[in-house]
Amino acid sequence: MSLPKHVRLVEVGPRDGLQNEAQPISVADKVRLVNDLTEAGLAYIEVGSFVSPKWVPQMAGSAEVFAGIQQRPGVTYAALAPNLRGFEDALAAGVKEVAVFAAASEAFSQRNINCSISESLKRFEPIMDAARSHGMRVRGYVSCVLGCPYEGKVSAEQVAPVARALHDMGCYEVSLGDTIGTGTAGDTRRLFEVVSAQVPREQLAGHFHDTYGQALANVYASLLEGISVFDSSVAGLGGCPYAKGATGNIASEDVVYLLQGLGIETGIDLGLLIAAGQRISGVLGRDNGSRVARACSAQ
Ligand code: HMG
Ligand code: MG
Repeated sequence: MSLPKHVRLVEVGPRDGLQNEAQPISVADKVRLVNDLTEAGLAYIEVGSFVSPKWVPQMAGSAEVFAGIQQRPGVTYAALAPNLRGFEDALAAGVKEVAVFAAASEAFSQRNINCSISESLKRFEPIMDAARSHGMRVRGYVSCVLGCPYEGKVSAEQVAPVARALHDMGCYEVSLGDTIGTGTAGDTRRLFEVVSAQVPREQLAGHFHDTYGQALANVYASLLEGISVFDSSVAGLGGCPYAKGATGNIASEDVVYLLQGLGIETGIDLGLLIAAGQRISGVLGRDNGSRVARACSAQ
């Protein structure tokens, strides 16, 4: 299969990246991050989550962040919603697109959203109905597609029915999340081979955490499988609060660098993206998790 000519990056830094941070981050810093990412040319930014503040305290200010950002026409600013309450809160905050999130492992589903996989899918149905009535699109996630922090290895056959259920209920795209970053390029190719028998490849995305340093190889393996949408996080920020030890997503800067080298368009200005990552890394007081950003900033 030939490589895609254009790739869309879903920037999850402000949500997946920051949700795991224990230290307080001001609304102003979150707003600045989203605005910087807009300036860098990201066409899709996941800004926050409308989840229980008891479960993920860092996302509590998401409505304020939405109120503060400068939205550029043509850019999607999305949020996670785990239930109808979250969807309604998102709607009230002016959010135009939401994402629901399920898991391929029962134990992770319980720890992350306090219900079974099938209960979670039932919970999403009223969100889908409400979104439809507002003309909104809904994206879907499946977590633990290549491994679970509680159950270990997860097979592609476990992932496929969950991805199919999200697709069948109306999610226009299903992002497959290697939450703990244990998957390898071989596992990734097999995953997309199996899942694409249930959901068309054009409606699948890859979401790779980089815990084991495999994420960039997994992006390349996915490209070879005809996948052209990837979630990534500026400066490699983040992790999941319910996947202990899991590090951030693949750094957006590193994906853009890879894609540029392959002659694949993203519409993203790498210099501005690096500047956005440097700034938020400074706010958090930590090293930039992007190898490309570190190398370019050292020159
Ligand atoms: P629960 O405790 O079972 O919910 O949590 P409940 O319905 O029993 O309600 C309990 C309390 O929460 C009530 O308040 C509700 O009002 C409130 P109280 O009466 O105790 O004061 N509540 C809410 N508050 C705000 N917003 C809401 C909401 N819903 C209920 N939407 C629930 C169930 C799903 C709410 C909870 O488990 C939760 O919020 N989980 C979110 C976990 C999360 O955000 N995880 C990280 C994102 S997923 C991820 O990172 C993976 C991904 O990146 C892909 C990958 O890497 O694999 C996407
Ligand atoms: Mg994630």
